[in-house]
Amino acid sequence: MKTTQFPKSFLWGAATSAYQVEGSPLADGAGPSIWHRFVRTPGLVKNGDTGDIACDHYQRMRDDVLLMKRLGLTAYRFSIAWARILPQGRGAVNAGGLGFYERLVDTLLEHGIQPMATLYHWDMPAALDDRGGWLNPDVADWFADYASVMFKRLDDRVKLWATLNEPWVVTDGGYLHGALAPGHKSRFEAPIASHQLLRAHGKAVQAYRALGKHQVGLVVNLAPKHAATDQPADVAAARRADAYMNRQYLDPVFLGRYPEEMTEIFGEAWPQWPAEDFKLIGEPIDFVGINYYMRDMIRHEETAWPVKTAVVPQSQSTYTDTGWEVFPKGLTEILLWVRQRYGNIPQYVTENGAAFYDPPAAAGGRVSDPLRVAYYRAHLRAIHDAVEQGVDLRGYCAWSLMDNLEWSLGFSKRFGIVHVNFDTLERTLKDSAHYYANVIASNGAVLDDAA
Ligand code: BGC
Repeated sequence: MKTTQFPKSFLWGAATSAYQVEGSPLADGAGPSIWHRFVRTPGLVKNGDTGDIACDHYQRMRDDVLLMKRLGLTAYRFSIAWARILPQGRGAVNAGGLGFYERLVDTLLEHGIQPMATLYHWDMPAALDDRGGWLNPDVADWFADYASVMFKRLDDRVKLWATLNEPWVVTDGGYLHGALAPGHKSRFEAPIASHQLLRAHGKAVQAYRALGKHQVGLVVNLAPKHAATDQPADVAAARRADAYMNRQYLDPVFLGRYPEEMTEIFGEAWPQWPAEDFKLIGEPIDFVGINYYMRDMIRHEETAWPVKTAVVPQSQSTYTDTGWEVFPKGLTEILLWVRQRYGNIPQYVTENGAAFYDPPAAAGGRVSDPLRVAYYRAHLRAIHDAVEQGVDLRGYCAWSLMDNLEWSLGFSKRFGIVHVNFDTLERTLKDSAHYYANVIASNGAVLDDAA
């Protein structure tokens, strides 16, 4: 039997995002972000949890990089907090904030870990939200100006840049259903936010071509949407769900148009956009980053506003602590689908992981998390299947390096391969971290061992 091996240059990473791990949100001259405000609005975040301390990564950065080194990571995907760089969102650059990311990048490089920087992981400067945030057409310029500051400062050391993390979640959570900052609930705002996010992405890519020498891409979250039955209503519902989540952002970037289902879903709220916008949005990118968590079995649900779809639980499946179906084959399916629909562009799995209940870290320093180990084994096998079928997959990042603030669920859901005790901030490697370290050390060979 052949031994499982990944390409020699394959990047083995773990991911985090600024607001979820850093803490010290206003340190060294930073401005407040929309999340700083959101967590301060009673009732919006579970247990009133905030990112004021989070994992205290802002102060423990060097130790955290040593932890990454111990795991054998060859890449670390992090995000940059816009409001640390530009406290007002635009205008004066804050040297204190820039300094943190410079030190982070330098420390990573010292330890042979490739930095993968994301420019926007949901923490818009509050000052820009006051001007309409993602609804204001000027946001594309604000974002490109911020991106340019970062490209100028760090492109000599950062070779992989992502513009946005999951524009679908920014819009769906932030502007349509309101569970995430800035917490709006509007069928009319959501299409505008989507379009301005894409314009901002396009402008940042343009700026990169002028200032950068390496690679820039977009990170989206994708999930197979399978029809729960072959009834025409359910088949149509699965098609709408797929357009809404999987094609809404990638079709404009690669095919120059929105899926036609968008008008079916949003009706009069879906505007006709100027043709020239699609030229900007379609600026060629160097890679696609894919965040994969689940598969959804979809049925038609008339009352589910506005997409009219519902997810049908699968009795034979395992579910994570966030209620997501574990479906490793869907990851192979998604990677193949991206290649088939959008071409043979380099891909990265920029996030993949699961929240499961973890026992408290034992005194001996062991956290046993068998469900998460099984999750990683199966999903890593699934990406290897995609590589064997010719997908140009360049790397993989576990979500997350460590337990962190799971947005409006607070600290109640743990996604880390490293356990964080939120009272003492002590880090303990879970069994899944040891397992992942073995996968990395063997470049995939341990995936052949039976479960
Ligand atoms: C996001 C992360 C989040 C994770 C788990 C992704 O959608 O990029 O910030 O913590 O999923 O919900």
